[in-house]
Amino acid sequence: MFAQPEVWEFPFARGLTREETELRLSRYIETWEHDGFGKYAVELSGDGPLIGCVGLELATWFHEIEGEVEIGWRLDPRYWGDGYATEAALASLKVGFDRLGLDRIVAVVEPANLASLRLAEKIGLRVVRETLEPKFGRLLEVFVVEREIFEEATGSQTAVEDGLHSAKVLDTTTRAH
Ligand SMILES: CC(C)(COP(=O)(O)OP(=O)(O)OC[C@H]1O[C@@H](n2cnc3c(N)ncnc32)[C@H](O)[C@@H]1OP(=O)(O)O)[C@@H](O)C(=O)NCCC(=O)NCCS
Repeated sequence: MFAQPEVWEFPFARGLTREETELRLSRYIETWEHDGFGKYAVELSGDGPLIGCVGLELATWFHEIEGEVEIGWRLDPRYWGDGYATEAALASLKVGFDRLGLDRIVAVVEPANLASLRLAEKIGLRVVRETLEPKFGRLLEVFVVEREIFEEATGSQTAVEDGLHSAKVLDTTTRAH
């Protein structure tokens, strides 16, 4: 999945090599071991296939959001447009607010990444500023959602629970061992 250029159009404009993928997956697993949360492997219900990864991570790559918890998503293009990213992202926010007790969660999206912009808005994040990432000079939109806003928007949490019925979300450490 990570070898496909569309999956890594943002930020790399190319697919990852096998070595880059291995390194990245090792980091995802280390993050779980170190922080107790991280990216989930997203699988379709039943014996469905692995279709991507969505989840929360401590932001370390960009000084402006360093120390914040960031939500991220990346699905296999064969499963884009079916609402799975929305389900998995809502489930991840719920984990962040309900289980980890976070007060806010951020996301960082390039303005040309229309699918991610829409997804961020759809799950309740709002743009707080536009900024320039110094390493590669990329323009970035910084999104935030606070706990109260999430709880208000999801009301009785029914929307989130419904999402969990149709997408089976497992953590990467479970799959890795
Ligand atoms: C971002 C991504 C996870 C969205 O996955 P998805 O399966 O299409 O998401 P959903 O089906 O849940 O759709 C979420 C919303 O985005 C909209 N959307 C999807 N693709 C879109 C596009 N290309 N342009 C505009 N809106 C788009 C959907 O229509 C939906 O909004 P709606 O309910 O108002 O119609 C997927 O495109 C992806 O993996 N992209 C590559 C990885 C990436 O860029 N990650 C983010 C780095 S910051």
